[in-house]
Amino acid sequence: MIQIQTKLQAKRIADIKDKISTLVVFVHKKGKKTEAMGATAHIADLLDNALVEGMSFSDLKKGIFLRGAGEAQFNNVLLVGLDEKFKDLEDVRRIAATIYQLMKTNKSRSSGIVFDGLIKGFKNSTEVARAFTEGVLLAAYKFDSYKTKKTKDKKDTENNAPDFKVDSIDFLLSAKTKQAGVSDGIKAGQIIAECVNFSRKLGDTPGNLMTPEILAHEAQEAAKGTKLKVTVWNKEKIKKERFGGLLGVSLGSAVDPRFIILEYNGAAKSKKPVCFVGKGLTFDSGGISIKPSNSMEEMKFDKCGGANVIGAILAIAKLKLKINVIGYVPSTENMPGPLANKPGDILVARNGKTVEVDNTDAEGRLILMDALSYASEQKPAVIFDAATLTGACVVALGNSYTGCFTRDKKIRQKISQAAEKSGEAVWHMPINDNFVEDMKGTYADLNNISSFKGAGASTAAAFLEQFVEKGIPWAHFDIAGTAWHVGNRLNYCPKKGASGAIIRTFVELAKLYA
Ligand code: BES
Ligand code: ZN
Ligand code: ZN
Repeated sequence: MIQIQTKLQAKRIADIKDKISTLVVFVHKKGKKTEAMGATAHIADLLDNALVEGMSFSDLKKGIFLRGAGEAQFNNVLLVGLDEKFKDLEDVRRIAATIYQLMKTNKSRSSGIVFDGLIKGFKNSTEVARAFTEGVLLAAYKFDSYKTKKTKDKKDTENNAPDFKVDSIDFLLSAKTKQAGVSDGIKAGQIIAECVNFSRKLGDTPGNLMTPEILAHEAQEAAKGTKLKVTVWNKEKIKKERFGGLLGVSLGSAVDPRFIILEYNGAAKSKKPVCFVGKGLTFDSGGISIKPSNSMEEMKFDKCGGANVIGAILAIAKLKLKINVIGYVPSTENMPGPLANKPGDILVARNGKTVEVDNTDAEGRLILMDALSYASEQKPAVIFDAATLTGACVVALGNSYTGCFTRDKKIRQKISQAAEKSGEAVWHMPINDNFVEDMKGTYADLNNISSFKGAGASTAAAFLEQFVEKGIPWAHFDIAGTAWHVGNRLNYCPKKGASGAIIRTFVELAKLYA
């Protein structure tokens, strides 16, 4: 783990001599002029020379690494340009990832960041420190537990950087910056990034090594040392509790399902909890309505909704937020074994509604229906669910946005506010009575696929809505497009692999209920 800490800039000569290899200086654009904040005259000269030598501001935006720049006790200087478009915390996250990657490619184990130059224009230095820390630690994530040889190949690794370990990043603070606030920001950023990276690992681990039983065990292990209580139901209990959807989907598989409950009480018992529900499909073959073999291996990521709910609640517990939350993760495989659901089969959900399964590949909604009914029984303040639910959402929004479905105007506004803070891209999508109509059943109350073509993400959301008790505010997040392989858009996410989508937004949402 990379050490991130604060140091007073004025003390740097005495304190950190010979310890830091690279000084990172931010260069701001002021019209045609540039200004390197907190820099010495020597660096200003280096900058002028670099610009005179034909480098432009757009080169600076990518970062210019000056090796052996001769700046006092630093071996190298990294100039990073911030233009007028650099304005919010998501930009901080991305610039942090860029700096981390430049440290790797330039084999710099340690760096000192001139923090004054970074916080210019921001009101809250704690938040900037938090976002920067998140950016670095999220960018440093790697899933290589199953490589027996750690490769040193230059072409290898995500982000095209050679395999090189960065040890430390120091925020160099001027006397006027409150060190305690910055340290708090670092701590919060570390917790969030750690939890996102934990969820990513759950997502990246393949189906044979991350069964429902193992997923539940991982949640229990991770909760140790926190105030989080984890309860796990086995197949018998799931049956006894009349979770007909979760049980039905699991029957085609040789491994048993689990229902994972995570409870955290950070507020008075009387305060209604915020519920999070996540789809934990450890592998989705499609079942009898089997998927094409092309890219089927990606369906190990079908547990990301559940994995990310686990990560979000873990983060909420570790941040000690003053709020009560409950997480529900129904978890199973969807396989075409002898007892598998057959098209036409009818299942009975926890709330008594009957569902005809006309396509066994539309299984996510079947396991979520029981979890949403059960969550409703707890009379929560609100329910949020996350699921890699539909290919239709990927068609609509690609890997650019998570689709969000709710009819509740108040929580829609809260979601926009939370997403603005988290920096995650969320797009509000339609859900209305027409879509509910499309899901009405022929031989049962509901059908698990729409009777009409198109709008597959909305009809899926309308189906889920039938299991949320009226009066309880609810929003559904379809992360099918954003849960994995988003590195082409977000430089702090792996090019290939789980992203941890929606965890940061869920944490921000939870704060709005504190
Ligand atoms: N897990 C899939 C959704 C999915 C597909 C996510 C591709 C990411 C990429 C889900 O269980 C599923 O297969 N849904 C079907 C529903 C359809 C049969 C109504 C789909 O989207 O094709
Ligand atoms: Zn499916
Ligand atoms: Zn699925």
